[in-house]
Amino acid sequence: MTLDQAQEDLFCAIANNENRTPHSMPGWYYSDQQLFELEKTKVFADGWVCVGHQSEISKTGQYITATIGDEPIVILRDRQKQIRAFSNICRHRGMTLVDGKGKVSLLTCPYHAWSYQLDGQLYKAPYMDSVEGFDPTLCALPEFKLEEWLGFMFVNISGVAAPLAPQLADLEPFLKNYHPEDRHSTQTWHEEWQTNWKALVENFMEGYHLSVTHATTLDYITPTELCEKLASGDGFTAYRSNYRPSSPQRLPFPADLIPKEQRSSVLVNIYPNFVITVGPNCAVFLILLPVRVESVVIKMGVLVQDGADDLAETKAYIDLAHAFNAEDKATLEAIQKNAKTSFRPIAHLAPEAFEGTIWDFTRQMAKLMISN
Ligand code: FES
Ligand SMILES: [Fe+2]
Repeated sequence: MTLDQAQEDLFCAIANNENRTPHSMPGWYYSDQQLFELEKTKVFADGWVCVGHQSEISKTGQYITATIGDEPIVILRDRQKQIRAFSNICRHRGMTLVDGKGKVSLLTCPYHAWSYQLDGQLYKAPYMDSVEGFDPTLCALPEFKLEEWLGFMFVNISGVAAPLAPQLADLEPFLKNYHPEDRHSTQTWHEEWQTNWKALVENFMEGYHLSVTHATTLDYITPTELCEKLASGDGFTAYRSNYRPSSPQRLPFPADLIPKEQRSSVLVNIYPNFVITVGPNCAVFLILLPVRVESVVIKMGVLVQDGADDLAETKAYIDLAHAFNAEDKATLEAIQKNAKTSFRPIAHLAPEAFEGTIWDFTRQMAKLMISN
């Protein structure tokens, strides 16, 4: 799988020229099958892919599942309370071991009942004792590198990724007063949108559309004009959406939020597939798990502080999240239908405060795509 010459030239120009004027990307960036296949390895297998929040599996034996590229994985809490990530494929003949989420004492294959312990070791394989040369110790589930950062779980399939935390060190000051690590996931749900996953990252991470696409849902709180670009780093980009002075205070919020933080949300993309908006009371996150070049499974969730699950304020925020997500979905699916048009030029991006995050993300993608 390789890039064609035009793709390689564009990615090289973007990655190697610090001063290039920020611009949008052509339709193939969102619709080319070859590029998507390369992304599966260079971006998803080699990167730190977010799979969820640790509070989703707080008890021994609880698990969640995710498919990263072509790799089904299961993430579970083992008997030592450690979080671990394994291949979710049976070592016998390849059946998926568990679906969705749940709680188990063993991972038992639904096909011929091979079962695995929570440390991935094969526990029982019916009738296999009599098979000459069969060695159960060679049948453990492959395990993947896993790192937790502020409560979120990130998996690296290929094992080549450098430690994640140092790549996010410059992000921590913007989030620490919100204490995301003390929040828990009150609700998660899955949706599938007919859009390329990168278009969804870009849309989530730019404030330029807020006052237009979300004229009735968000503009009265977070208008475009109050957006502010924050730092970016090796592993992330971020911006702040400040609240209109006229909008009501979001409650409750952690005691050490400074006034500016009480009146704003921080929107973050941890490369590649994790976006989150962290506000004073709630945080909404989207974990993007592309299934095809033009469609993406999204695991969405809401983080709240302890005791805030049933507050009217929380419920109102979740309703709001559904409303603005529906607006974004409609826009992104309309754009995707135009991905193969001949009349979409490469255009200037809006000023840094509004679309600077898109350029950070584009540069990161370009660097990854031309890497060996
Ligand atoms: S495929 Fe799992 S036991 Fe046969
Ligand atoms: Fe939006």
